[in-house]
Amino acid sequence: MDIETSNDPEAFSEFENTGWNEISVAYELQFGPLTSQSTSTVVEAAQVESGTRFLDVCTGPGMLAEEAAKIGADVSGLDFSEEALAIARRNVPGATFHQGDAQELPFDENSFDSVVCGFGIIHVPDPQKALREMYRVLKPGGRIALSVWEAPGPSNGFGLLYGSIKAHGDLSVPLPHGPDFFQFSDETRLSNLLESSGFNDVSVKTAEQFWNFEEPSELVSCITDSTVRARGLLSAQTEANRQSIIEAVISGLEKFRVDVGKYKVPMHALVGSGSK
Ligand SMILES: C[S@@+](CC[C@H](N)C(=O)[O-])C[C@H]1O[C@@H](n2cnc3c(N)ncnc32)[C@H](O)[C@@H]1O
Repeated sequence: MDIETSNDPEAFSEFENTGWNEISVAYELQFGPLTSQSTSTVVEAAQVESGTRFLDVCTGPGMLAEEAAKIGADVSGLDFSEEALAIARRNVPGATFHQGDAQELPFDENSFDSVVCGFGIIHVPDPQKALREMYRVLKPGGRIALSVWEAPGPSNGFGLLYGSIKAHGDLSVPLPHGPDFFQFSDETRLSNLLESSGFNDVSVKTAEQFWNFEEPSELVSCITDSTVRARGLLSAQTEANRQSIIEAVISGLEKFRVDVGKYKVPMHALVGSGSK
């Protein structure tokens, strides 16, 4: 089973790094309450205990690092964005954070008992290279756990967004080429990524997550303020198409309304884990 890589890794990394430096503050506010809903599932799958030597790759604002620190783990985090790291250092003062690339981890082999990566692998030009690095820095018997978004569909937020772009805009506008954002959004493909990178005892579970909004426009600002690729995709549309897409997202949100002024949008995660 082929794992897609970027065909222009330098341009894609530059695009992602610039983007994350611009949006990490907004990401913490708008995605933090969402991705924090799966942190306990990821940390449990990585079998973190008090004293575990723990590494959070693509830490962002440090949600997984914070969860592991609460358990008493010895926490390190890594991200390539200075802005993300500044937030993580503020949120998890007891942890040690490093600036670096997930594809070239600045750690010796056999350094950690648990390595996690929350919604990060889908941003890396060569996902398997990053997985092999995570394998290298884990001790024998150590655990990996990583989360990715579930595939876009009629009953989730990414389905609404990408369905609206497909219907009213152009999904093929030119952006630096990155691997398919949803290539691991399937149990078989996520298992294959882990197994082909050397891990055994692989399993995948779903962690439920929901975006809760009071205003339909909040979903649009989550995308335009707090994402890198989806924001790039939207801003590359013509003005008329962008307006039609936004209107379609807002009207499509009605099916997720659970009460007057309350919208609950499924944004579930797949959590894959395994052992070295
Ligand atoms: C979607 S955020 C995930 C944040 C957090 N882990 C969570 O669960 O919400 C992705 C993070 O990965 C970082 N990132 C993307 N590509 C990276 C790379 N090649 N090396 C290191 N960090 C990277 C970004 O800077 C960003 O902070």
